[in-house]
Amino acid sequence: MTTDTTTKGTTATGETVLDARGVTMRFGGLTAVRNVNLTVNSGEIVGLIGPNGAGKTTFFNCLTGLYIPTEGEVRYKDQVLPPKSFKVTAAGIARTFQNIRLFANMTVLENVLVGRHTRTKEGLWSALLRGPGFHKAEAASRERAMELLEFVGLDAKAEHLARNLPYGEQRKLEIARALASEPGLLLLDEPTAGMNPQETRATEELVFAIRDKGIAVLVIEHDMRFIFNLCDRVAVLVQGEKLVEGDSATVQGDERVVAAYLGEPFEDAPGKEEIAEVEAAEANADAPTDAAPGKENDR
Ligand SMILES: Nc1ncnc2c1ncn2[C@@H]1O[C@H](COP(=O)(O)OP(=O)(O)OP(=O)(O)O)[C@@H](O)[C@H]1O
Ligand SMILES: [Mg+2]
Repeated sequence: MTTDTTTKGTTATGETVLDARGVTMRFGGLTAVRNVNLTVNSGEIVGLIGPNGAGKTTFFNCLTGLYIPTEGEVRYKDQVLPPKSFKVTAAGIARTFQNIRLFANMTVLENVLVGRHTRTKEGLWSALLRGPGFHKAEAASRERAMELLEFVGLDAKAEHLARNLPYGEQRKLEIARALASEPGLLLLDEPTAGMNPQETRATEELVFAIRDKGIAVLVIEHDMRFIFNLCDRVAVLVQGEKLVEGDSATVQGDERVVAAYLGEPFEDAPGKEEIAEVEAAEANADAPTDAAPGKENDR
C-alpha cells in the first residue's frame, strides 16, 4: 500500500459518479430516509454521519439495490440503477456491511474470489467442464485477488479461515472483497467499528490509497476524527433528513450538527416544569433564619 499520496484532496474531482435524487424510504408508518439528495464525484471521499437510527444504513441499502426506495432515483455515472444488488455491483458500486458479512468457513483468498464473480466472463458451463478457458480465468482471478490482499495487508493470511482473523482484519478482508468487483464507487458502512486507534489510522491510510486508485468513496462512520481527517465533504443525516452538507470545517462549526448529536432541549421538554417549580420555591423562600452560611440568600 502506498502512503506517499495520503493527503486530503490531492486528486482533482471530476464527473459525478453517484447521483441520488429525492431518495425516500418508508417502512409502514416510519420514514427512515426522507427526500435525500447526495452526489459523489470521482476523486472524492464523502462522509455520511448522523446519530444512531438516522437512516444512514437504510440510505446505503437504497443505493445498492437491497431496498427499492419508496421515492426517488439513484444514478451511477448517468445510468439509473437497477433494483437488484448483483446488478448494482456489476454496474460499479461495491460496499461493505456494518455487520461484517464474510464466508466464515472459507479462506481469506476464497472470500476475495467470491467478490470477483461479477467480473469473471467465464460462464457456468466453462466452470463445470473446467476447460482451458476456465483454468486461465481462474489463474487470473487468483492473481488479482492476491494483489488485493497485498493491498490491504492480508496476503500472508490468504490461506487462513476468515473466521480465525481478528476483528480488524475481517473488516479489511471485507474491503478487499468489495474491491474485487473492480468498483468505481465504494460504500463503507462503519469500517472502523471495533478497531483500536492504530487500526483506525491504518484504515484511514487505506481509504486514501483506494481514492488514489481512482475509486470514489462514500463512508459512514461514528468516529468523527476519522471522518474529518478523511473526507472532502460530509453530509449529516438526522431523523432521515439531510441536515447539513459541506467540508469538514463547515460541518464541525455548524451548531445544528452539535445540537443533533447532543440532543437539543426542546420547548416543553420533560423537566422544564420541575426546574421552574424549584426556582420559584427558592425565590419565594422565607427569610433565611436557618440558612447555612455561604448560601446565596445569605448575601
Ligand atoms: N427493514 C427495516 N424495517 C423497518 N424499519 C427499519 C428497517 N431498516 C431500518 N429501519 C429503521 O429505520 C431507521 C434508520 O435505521 P438505520 O439502520 O438506517 O440507521 P443508522 O443511521 O444506520 O443507525 P446506526 O448509526 O445505529 O447504524 C431506524 O428507526 C430503524 O429501526
Ligand atoms: Mg447503520
